[in-house]
Amino acid sequence: MSTEKVIVEKHPTYWLVRINNPERRNALSEAVVDGLIAVTAEVAREKAVRAVILCGAGDKAFCAGADLKERKAMNPDQVRVFVGKQLAMMNAIAASPKVWIAALQGACLGGGLELALSCDLRVANTNTVAGLPEVRLGIIPGAGGTQRLPRLVGMAKAKEMILTGMRMCAEHAQAMGIVNRVAEDHEAAAIELAGELAKAAPISLTQAKRAVDAGWDLPLEAGMLLERACYDVTIPTKDRLEGLQAFAEKRAPNYIGE
Ligand code: COA
Repeated sequence: MSTEKVIVEKHPTYWLVRINNPERRNALSEAVVDGLIAVTAEVAREKAVRAVILCGAGDKAFCAGADLKERKAMNPDQVRVFVGKQLAMMNAIAASPKVWIAALQGACLGGGLELALSCDLRVANTNTVAGLPEVRLGIIPGAGGTQRLPRLVGMAKAKEMILTGMRMCAEHAQAMGIVNRVAEDHEAAAIELAGELAKAAPISLTQAKRAVDAGWDLPLEAGMLLERACYDVTIPTKDRLEGLQAFAEKRAPNYIGE
């Protein structure tokens, strides 16, 4: 469901979710975080949807991180509670059964970059500026940045970004391995990627994502067992049989997410 601050465009195989707070460079206000929590829960129930594209309104920012104006009015306890809620929202996206694609443009800073890191794939407009400036604001990344970034790019590069608060362009972010694709039109590139995902069976995507994510921190042997458990989920599905049937009939499969 759309809210004033989070607009949802529903397509049969993907949803496009737009943070709509352009006057604050799509900063993560309480209303934005609440809207994203709601949409993450809602899309999880849609069997045929494979992907969620997350983008920002206007042409200046994906998301400029925490809403620093709202934050200024909070007392320390309120900050603690809100930071926890923000992290829970990003963890829910990371654990979502759908594939989340962050379509980046302009400012992608602090919590904005952490939000992008909680997604599975990232495409970036050439105008993207990404960074984790928190240490320059007297705090540290508090929504997974210190944990997800090193896992993605390695310890040395992550420490350089986190400890210096440096800002980087799209090409640099791609060279670092943060961004999958750089494009003139980031939303078109994300929609194209969602089109590729639409060729896959929804349950396969969910289980493949789970195998990669949950296996990451496991010893290899335990990871193999986890992969096997994820594979087993696909065996009794109608879509597995449809994949075999479509292959035999030399046609595209029609997957339903069951
Ligand atoms: N929270 C709240 N408001 C924000 C914001 C944020 N994170 N980022 C930008 N805004 C607001 C600005 O205060 C400004 O509001 P105003 O018009 O009332 O003055 C408006 O958005 C436009 O910002 P401005 O700085 O004029 O635009 P810009 O395009 O030149 O720069 C940024 C955009 C995002 C690069 C710059 O605003 C910035 O560095 N923001 C802080 C980002 C940050 O440190 N985030 C990490 C938080 S932990």
